Amino acid sequence: MRTRLVENMGKYTGQVLEEILTTEEIDNRVEELARQISKDYEGKVPILIGVLNGSIFFLADLAKKLDIECELDFIKVSSYHTGTQSSGTVRLLKDISCIVTDRDVIIVEDIIDSGLTARFLKHRILENQPSSVTFASLLLKPDCLKLEFEAEYIGFEVSDRFLVGYGLDLDQKFRNLPSIWAFPVDMNV
Ligand code: IMP
Ligand code: MG
Repeated sequence: MRTRLVENMGKYTGQVLEEILTTEEIDNRVEELARQISKDYEGKVPILIGVLNGSIFFLADLAKKLDIECELDFIKVSSYHTGTQSSGTVRLLKDISCIVTDRDVIIVEDIIDSGLTARFLKHRILENQPSSVTFASLLLKPDCLKLEFEAEYIGFEVSDRFLVGYGLDLDQKFRNLPSIWAFPVDMNV
C-alpha cells in the first residue's frame, strides 16, 4: 500500500496517509457506473448536478464516459464548518441555474457520510417537480445507514476514516490528489 507524508499543514503535519483507492480502481468503477447510467437513461437527456466542490473530478470523469447526451449544472452547499465535524445543518451556498421541472436529474456527490446533505439536496430538487431524481455518489460511509437514505449509484463503500483526494478535501487541501487517501484510524482529524 502506498503511503504519503503530510507536509506544511499545521497540526496535521507528519501524519501518514494511506492510499485506499488507486486511480485505476477509481477509473474502472466510474466506467462501470457510466455504463449502468447510460443503460438506465437510454433515450433520455439527464441533467447531472454536481455538488461543489468535492464532486468535480467524479462528475467530469463520469460525464465523459457516458454514451448518452447529458447536461451539466452545479449546486453548492455547506454541511461542515471546518475540519471533519458535521454541523448537522445544511446551508445552500449556490443554487442550480437550470430548470429541472419535467427533467431527469442525477445529483452527483463525492461522498455520503451521515446522509444529511444528500437528503437536503434531493428534497431541494424535488420541490421543482422534475420527472425523476436519482443520486450518484462515488463513496458511501457506513453512517448513512442510520438515516435510511438510499443512493441509486454508489462507487465504493468505505470504512469510517477521514478521506482526501479525487475532490475530497481537508480544509480545502488535498482535493487535487488523483487517488483517494485515508488518515490513520485513530487520528482525530
Ligand atoms: P453528510 O451530510 O454527513 O453526508 O456529509 C457529506 C459531505 O461531507 C460530503 O459532501 C463531503 O463534502 C463531506 N465529507 C464527509 N466525509 C468526508 C471525508 O471523509 N473526507 C472529506 N469530506 C467528507
Ligand atoms: Mg461535498
